[in-house]
Amino acid sequence: MSKSTARFTLDPAFTIGEVNPRLFGSFVEHLGRCVYTGIYEPDHATADEAGLRTDVLDLVRELGVTTIRYPGGNFVSGYKWEDSVGPVEERPRRLDLAWHSTETNRFGLSEYIAFLKKIGPQAEPMMAVNLGTRGVAEALELQEYANHPSGTALSDLRAAHGDKEPFGIKLWCLGNEMDGPWQTGHKTAEEYGRIAAETARAMRQIDPSVELVACGSSSQSMPTFAAWEATVLQEAYELVDHISLHAYYEPIDGDLDSFLASAVDMESFIENVVATADHVGARLKSKKKINLSFDEWNVWYLSRWEEYAKTIDKTGWPEAPRLLEDNYSVTDAVVFGSLLIALLRHADRVTVACLAQLVNVIAPIMTEPGGPAWRQTTFFPFAQASRHGRGEVLDVRVDSPTYETRKYGETDLLHATAVRAEDGTVTVFAVNRSRTEPLPLEVALNGLDLTSVTEHSALADADPDARNTLDDPERVTPHPVEGTALRDGTLTAVLEPLSWNVIRLA
Ligand code: AHR
Repeated sequence: MSKSTARFTLDPAFTIGEVNPRLFGSFVEHLGRCVYTGIYEPDHATADEAGLRTDVLDLVRELGVTTIRYPGGNFVSGYKWEDSVGPVEERPRRLDLAWHSTETNRFGLSEYIAFLKKIGPQAEPMMAVNLGTRGVAEALELQEYANHPSGTALSDLRAAHGDKEPFGIKLWCLGNEMDGPWQTGHKTAEEYGRIAAETARAMRQIDPSVELVACGSSSQSMPTFAAWEATVLQEAYELVDHISLHAYYEPIDGDLDSFLASAVDMESFIENVVATADHVGARLKSKKKINLSFDEWNVWYLSRWEEYAKTIDKTGWPEAPRLLEDNYSVTDAVVFGSLLIALLRHADRVTVACLAQLVNVIAPIMTEPGGPAWRQTTFFPFAQASRHGRGEVLDVRVDSPTYETRKYGETDLLHATAVRAEDGTVTVFAVNRSRTEPLPLEVALNGLDLTSVTEHSALADADPDARNTLDDPERVTPHPVEGTALRDGTLTAVLEPLSWNVIRLA
């Protein structure tokens, strides 16, 4: 047996759990050009009667997103939902403190629901309420406006605004990143735990079946991490269903090897939140389990943004400025794929996840105002995982050659998971973290009636810095890999250096 070969065994008797379709969610925030000139551009040649860009809608469908979180993010902590409903010409322009922009409210709640309907039945709303500058009363008013059928002031107002049918929003976020000092209305864990519990209790009085997400930590590196979750859940355990996690990754000081191992942090973050939530559950002698909503995750060159933010002219309040428009390389897409693998590997407890964000803002889809829309490198792993990552996650324990990283020490070169669909076919998702060496892979298949490889697709490039741009929108796409074989119950493949791989077995 060669030490340079990575191995694992697949056996349908050993599973992690069923993938919740909500794992392939995304996020639309009123930030930069995500909404305006992103999904919504009434003057665009492809715009429909609602002002939605149909070229973007096509790409959103192809991406395979399900749940879409809205309207923020940091934006929600100053959000007045009343501004975003009713006749568009009467909607006020407001200062958005989170992103130092002017919010015109031309796109609002009703337009968001219409956008989801246009995507298709797989698209589900995930609405955040403002617990930064507002509280219980405004959350209840929004819920009544959105969900109550009729016969009350706010439900009748919705109908008068043209939306006779209630929006039926099931999934609600109780604020956003309330642990972060940057958040408008930032709170201590005790303060937030109380307001989250009281908001949840009241929202359940309107509708006991709502599903509620309490804010967890903005990253595992927050000084309050874990203590925050414990305090918040101590207050709200029986009243909420999920606790949120947010994580963004970038190379620090050019350390690509650690960057490629970002999923090590993501997996430990998930496991630590599960441990914390279960500890609180045990202390409370509760039978209930709190699930995880990883409702912001991505590669984000955050330190570049922080540098840029220092230079922004604070006297101007632009409309839909170009903010956070990261252009992703092949390396970024491989890390991104590995983050998807991390989510799938924890599908038993991560039951909601939102790629932040959907269009233009740290996004898989880019647009040019009045111009085309195109796919970033990160588009492909997400679309493939959403299409083929539905079913039961098999328990994958790799025996892999390793490499040394500054941040995480000795790390496996292989990061992998596998999902078994209802029809018995299996898809292996695998990343080779080596920047220089191909990685031979052997997978033993036990008790699986699989006889052929129907596809091996890889995202890799001789230039790991290659990207898709406005001028060259199809520079990077996945390519088929030859030579992958399934014989006598063993799958053999070679994973190119620095690659994201999808291997489908039937
Ligand atoms: O996704 C961009 C921002 O990142 C969100 O507004 C905020 O919640 C997070 O800090």
